[in-house]
Amino acid sequence: MNPDASTIAAGAPIEVDLSPVAEGQDIKVFWRGKPIYISHRTKKQIDEARAVNVASLPDPQSDEARVKSGHDQWLVVIGICTHLGCIPIAHEGNYDGFFCPCHGSQYDSSGRIRQGPAPANLPVPPYTFVSDTKIQIG
Ligand code: FES
Repeated sequence: MNPDASTIAAGAPIEVDLSPVAEGQDIKVFWRGKPIYISHRTKKQIDEARAVNVASLPDPQSDEARVKSGHDQWLVVIGICTHLGCIPIAHEGNYDGFFCPCHGSQYDSSGRIRQGPAPANLPVPPYTFVSDTKIQIG
């Protein structure tokens, strides 16, 4: 039996099937009323995220710390700009990641803030892989 819509809205975990998400594609789902971006990153996006000097970042965090080991192609982030709460656009901006048009914050392919007024990286929600192609968020 699946939880009904009101239970999900109140915070029940959700499962997301990743198998239809092609490499280079992003999808948006909702969990606890928040937009969650799931990116199936290309090798180029992963390499870019890992080539950065972490200490130089405004909110230093390695790409490895933001993804699940063995599932490095998948980035899962809460899609709410850490500046004033707009919803950034996926696959936009200067860093192959996310761009917030409200005041110009640029996030990279790891969801880390790289440029603009946002003070922090896009948060990673709690999630686990329940199989190679399915995650549970929450
Ligand atoms: S809300 Fe995103 S840059 Fe201001």
